[in-house]
Amino acid sequence: MSEHGHGHGHGHGHGHGHRHGHDDGDQAEVLDLDAELLAGHTAGIIDWLPIANPRHIVDLGAGTGAGTFALLSRFPEAHVTAVDSSVEHLQRLRAQAGERGLADRVHTVVADLDSDWPDLGTPDLIWASASLHHMADPGHTLAQLHKTLAPSGLLAVVELAGMPQFLPEHAPDGHDERIPHRGADWGPMLTGAGFTVEGDRTITVHIERSEAVERYARIVLKRRLDPEDLEEALRRDDLALRTERTVWAARK
Ligand SMILES: C[S@@+](CC[C@H](N)C(=O)[O-])C[C@H]1O[C@@H](n2cnc3c(N)ncnc32)[C@H](O)[C@@H]1O
Repeated sequence: MSEHGHGHGHGHGHGHGHRHGHDDGDQAEVLDLDAELLAGHTAGIIDWLPIANPRHIVDLGAGTGAGTFALLSRFPEAHVTAVDSSVEHLQRLRAQAGERGLADRVHTVVADLDSDWPDLGTPDLIWASASLHHMADPGHTLAQLHKTLAPSGLLAVVELAGMPQFLPEHAPDGHDERIPHRGADWGPMLTGAGFTVEGDRTITVHIERSEAVERYARIVLKRRLDPEDLEEALRRDDLALRTERTVWAARK
């Protein structure tokens, strides 16, 4: 497996010498980069949601808080319950909430949503971004979400069609075998769980190379390329973040 730092000072401090791609540190950095790079797209998705003034929002599989902070900013009267199985991600989220002066509007819940269902209150909006595909039984999770929502509450499911691509001619990145539900069509599953799908929308993301895009590409591509190919890929002018997001708005 490739290691960081084979002589190219790329100037971003991980500060720890982890070996390979799927650890929490890398995931947290990818989530933060994703939040930064896609902030405008995420705001656009939230604006599109058919909901006016939610007071209690659940961010399901909140990670480091990309959705939480976008939602808090869009809905100034709301508070967010951020739930995730990763203690580290939620610590990072809480630290950021503190830095942004939002600590009193964020409540974190550590829970593995595949086992005991936590008490999440009665939210009028549930935001599930890139999290449902991780669930062992998404149909069961959707049924739980249906029960959890307030009457006429809204569930927003945001999912990725696949892993982001960085090079135009790069072979499709292939599905990660550990996450079989990624790229699924959530419409019928939402209907099956009792929701009414009020709309869906797919956005195409293409963000030209920047220092953040390069860092993102490095983390993702080092899992697939050997070190020399990685460095060559990262030098290319046409390096860009290419991805697609689909959002479904589902009413209880
Ligand atoms: C791809 S990240 C998405 C994070 C965030 N929603 C975003 O859009 O940036 C998926 C998140 O789901 C969480 N997760 C995966 N399986 C979970 C489970 N069974 N219970 C709770 N959280 C889970 C992971 O820890 C991770 O933070």
